[in-house]
Amino acid sequence: MDAPAHDIPAGQTIIQVDRISKTFHLKGEEVYALKDVSFDIKKGEYLSIMGPSGSGKTTLFNMIGALDVPSDGAVKIGPLDLTKLTSRQLAYVRNHYIGYIFQAYNLIASLTALRNVAIAHVFSGASNEEATAKAKQCLELVGLGHRLHHRPDEMSGGQQQRVAIARALVNDPAILLADEPTANLDFKTGGDIIGMLKQLSATRGVTVITATHDHKMLSNSDRILWMRDGRVDRIDRRQDIHIEEGTIEVGGKSIEH
Ligand SMILES: Nc1ncnc2c1ncn2[C@@H]1O[C@H](COP(=O)(O)OP(=O)(O)OP(=O)(O)O)[C@@H](O)[C@H]1O
Ligand SMILES: [Mg+2]
Repeated sequence: MDAPAHDIPAGQTIIQVDRISKTFHLKGEEVYALKDVSFDIKKGEYLSIMGPSGSGKTTLFNMIGALDVPSDGAVKIGPLDLTKLTSRQLAYVRNHYIGYIFQAYNLIASLTALRNVAIAHVFSGASNEEATAKAKQCLELVGLGHRLHHRPDEMSGGQQQRVAIARALVNDPAILLADEPTANLDFKTGGDIIGMLKQLSATRGVTVITATHDHKMLSNSDRILWMRDGRVDRIDRRQDIHIEEGTIEVGGKSIEH
């Protein structure tokens, strides 16, 4: 496989979520995490997924990010139907097309910032020297050039989150998935992180998808997808909603989420 996700022109559909459902079987009980979810995302778009806890945001991310497969329906990245790929092909997609930023950072505690980022590049086939040089570049991009040799427990939460962003960028992904990237951060640091994601989508054409409870993440989005009970409640364009501190208005109606 070469790089079809990167070759898609800006503004064309890069991800197609087609009627996916996900059911977990738990002690004989069926838990419906996603029900009949469909939507498209364009190359270079910044999409925020909003919804209460348990509404299915992370489950949806796992499907788009090739970390899990839907019980029904299909997820396509460019021409590739993820539900039809072998595990080896899925690993290629994860390494070469997608960058992940997890809520809990998921950094390796025993490694420095530089090594945490470099190792993700080594996994995609780079040599140690290449990976170290690229990791340094990515850490400088997120403002951590002065923390290369610190381990996660020697950095603040915001700095660890920025290492996680650098790691997500090291393989030049076409798609960046950020699951609640500001959940553990203060207002100012959260704002900086969001600004960074927006800049990546605007200047590098990276498609950014974030899951969040955080209303301040919405103003940078091109569209906002609202989830409720495993379904898409609705999708709004940024210009159609009015956001004020504490409230969001759509078509003159105030909504709570
Ligand atoms: N591995 C699993 N086994 C069983 N049920 C699961 C599993 N993963 C998720 N679920 C259930 O699926 C539903 C959706 O969970 P999910 O983690 O996607 O929600 P979320 O919107 O990301 O919530 P939060 O905002 O709290 O992160 C929940 O009811 C959850 O209990
Ligand atoms: Mg979640």
